[in-house]
Amino acid sequence: MAIDLGIVVLAAGEGTRLKLDVPKALAPLKNRVLVDYVLNSAMDFSRAKNLQSKIAVVTGHRHEEVEAHIRAHGPEVNFCYQEVRRGTGDAIKSYFAKCPWGTEPEYTLVLCADTPMIGKEELGALYESLIAHAADAVCASFRCDNPHGYGRIKRATKGFTIVEQKDASVEEAKINEVNSGLYIFKTSLLKERVSGLTNNNKSGEFYLTDVFAAGANVIAHCFERAEVFGGVNTLAQLAEMEGLVNEKLVNSLLDKGVRVINPQTLLIDPTVEVEAGAIIGHYVELRGNSKICAGAKLESQVIIEDSTVHSGAQIKSYSYLENAIVGANAAIGPYARLRPGADIGEESKIGNFVEIKKAKLHKGVKVSHLSYVGDAEIGDETNIGCGFITCNYDGKNKHKTDIGKNCFIGSDTQIVAPLTIGDGSYVASGSTINQNMPAGSFAIARAKQVTKEGMAGRFLKK
Ligand code: UD1
Ligand code: CA
Repeated sequence: MAIDLGIVVLAAGEGTRLKLDVPKALAPLKNRVLVDYVLNSAMDFSRAKNLQSKIAVVTGHRHEEVEAHIRAHGPEVNFCYQEVRRGTGDAIKSYFAKCPWGTEPEYTLVLCADTPMIGKEELGALYESLIAHAADAVCASFRCDNPHGYGRIKRATKGFTIVEQKDASVEEAKINEVNSGLYIFKTSLLKERVSGLTNNNKSGEFYLTDVFAAGANVIAHCFERAEVFGGVNTLAQLAEMEGLVNEKLVNSLLDKGVRVINPQTLLIDPTVEVEAGAIIGHYVELRGNSKICAGAKLESQVIIEDSTVHSGAQIKSYSYLENAIVGANAAIGPYARLRPGADIGEESKIGNFVEIKKAKLHKGVKVSHLSYVGDAEIGDETNIGCGFITCNYDGKNKHKTDIGKNCFIGSDTQIVAPLTIGDGSYVASGSTINQNMPAGSFAIARAKQVTKEGMAGRFLKK
């Protein structure tokens, strides 16, 4: 099938000012890295516009690491290694030289790896502009109070030029409309103009921006929201971007009908899915591949990572969930800890100061207070009393506890695993259970009490 759009992401940069031990494209932003954001936006845009597109990434500094990351986590892309970083124009030369389909599509979209806030909306608007004006190229620009460092858009009667910071005259430096580094070109024009670029400028670099010229059929589309185009060069900008990306994610939840009680305090990763109709209290953190279903309610100060909370479930304050599943209408917490492999059945109830690890609790199980359940399976409707412990670890190996359905396990019981308790059994409080129990059995395993009347005086202080 013919390709409509070639997408090129420029990611050869070092990012020395970030002071992180990773190339800039791999700087962490929430649970992703910088380059992931533009790759995702480009794909979303292409899908939304129904374009047949292919992606290439120009790599340079520590390119093996950047390529390995994208191979493992990103879409299918072609890597174009730029041996020497001689500027953005030279990066595009590498693209045409190395990408097998480079000159094939009618249009070429160019993005930088370090602008994570650019979304499919901006890409769509830019594309519409190009088509509406039947232009040969469109550059996304914006206005800013402090244009220092950016290329300035110097508009002519027709077309415009871009003057880089280093090359700007005093007058040109005052221009506050700047180049964002995002463009869509007619591929034929880009190819022709890039091959003619020179590096006669203060930086001695081949500037991609020199492709634009006065008199040419090119347009600068000036966007209102400057913050969308912010690049990441320093740790301060990275932190600021983290806030902006978060705000954008929270706003999209509000738009789709998630009730967020205090939007400023919700921290959320881009990989989290929250369904319309969920309720999120204040100071909640949602991380990784978590899913919060419609009608689930998260109270304040809850942290949820890589977990699924099904419809109608309630996670009460100060609970911490990691790699866990919470069934429909279950109640967790307050102060509960669900560790990896906790799988809580529908309508179950996990109360305060309860820790659950690698354990499947079926429907309607209650573990209401101060307990540890690890490496276990507990059947429907079983009630576990307060202060229950699965003694799952013998110092070398972990062992499993199996408790059937409809059991009653009294408070302060320890189960020395491996151990099985059959359906409908009853364990008396204060028991240390170290033998299997068949279905319907009763067990009591506690020392006999001795009571001596009148003897307390011997031990009490006078
Ligand atoms: C560039 C623009 C400037 C614009 C600014 C917006 C040019 C000449 N200038 O400047 O007008 O206002 O972006 O942020 O394009 N890269 C390569 N190979 C290279 C050089 C750069 O892949 O040889 C990549 C970088 O990794 C980066 C992107 O291109 O992702 C932009 O390069 P950068 O050096 O940051 O350009 P700026 O000086 O910021
Ligand atoms: Ca830059």
